[in-house]
Amino acid sequence: NRVDIIGAATTFGQPRLGVDLGPDALRYANLINEIEKLNIEVNDKGNIYSDIKVNVAEHSQGDANTLKNYDQVMDFNEKLAKSVDESIQQGSFPLIIGGDHSLAIGSLAGISSHYENLGVIWYDAHGDLNNSDTSPSGNIHGMPLAISCGVGDEKLVNLYKDGPKVKPENIVLIGMRDLDEGEKEYISENDILTFTMTDIKEKGISAVMRESLEHLQDKTDGIHLSLDVDALDPMETPGTGTPVDGGLSLSETLSAMTQLHDSNKITSMDLVEVNPLLDDKNKTAQKAVSIASAFFGKKQK
Ligand code: ARG
Ligand code: MN
Ligand code: MN
Ligand code: MN
Repeated sequence: NRVDIIGAATTFGQPRLGVDLGPDALRYANLINEIEKLNIEVNDKGNIYSDIKVNVAEHSQGDANTLKNYDQVMDFNEKLAKSVDESIQQGSFPLIIGGDHSLAIGSLAGISSHYENLGVIWYDAHGDLNNSDTSPSGNIHGMPLAISCGVGDEKLVNLYKDGPKVKPENIVLIGMRDLDEGEKEYISENDILTFTMTDIKEKGISAVMRESLEHLQDKTDGIHLSLDVDALDPMETPGTGTPVDGGLSLSETLSAMTQLHDSNKITSMDLVEVNPLLDDKNKTAQKAVSIASAFFGKKQK
């Protein structure tokens, strides 16, 4: 059991500069040591960048109907998919640290050839199920889950490996509280199991996690956890580009992670949207590290 850390240093899926510094903010918050303390071997593969450099003056220009920074997102995710694929081939657990959530296009593409029925737990305030027609922003970080289901720009859908990477019935959405109209339609048309914040308040997080695992475990041969730190309340994780009030607490998230750890079902993970330039003394990265530690088996005292 080795964990490969893959730094996904991308800012191209959204307009707030600094989220590309997220991987290093997590390292400075002691990510590697905290995982090693759990008797897990950690291999930090360093950062992946797009070959196309960030041009501060031209970053994220265009209107909501365009796919902003399209070439950079394509180029970046091709490289990321390859690295994720290689880590799994070598028997490692890939932990992809971001970076904005457009990186999930590459992580899911790299993972997908290893599983016939990949499950996905999307722990986020947002569904990230837009396409260029439904998106209010043109920001690709609002689209990766749709793209991975085969909906959206053809080249992004077929990135690294042809065809959809995940089936809607193998997805669970947790923490939802800011869904766009087109996303709500996609969710109901495809019957995606969805737990909004209201559902979580009613049932409690442990029932939600149990139902999520029950929904996925028999029909999938691997489960990817994609955790956007904006799933948590902005009081917990202020250093993120699209905060939404009324989110999960750190303690709810830590117990969710312990449940996932104990299930032994999760086969890869993204930890995304940490932006140290929007943060308060790296507090968001520190919470993200405690989330990762709980996921890898640290017991809450
Ligand atoms: N739904 C909004 C959009 O599509 C916000 C997406 C935020 N996504 C994220 N990964 N933080 O623009
Ligand atoms: Mn989000
Ligand atoms: Mn997201
Ligand atoms: Mn364990």
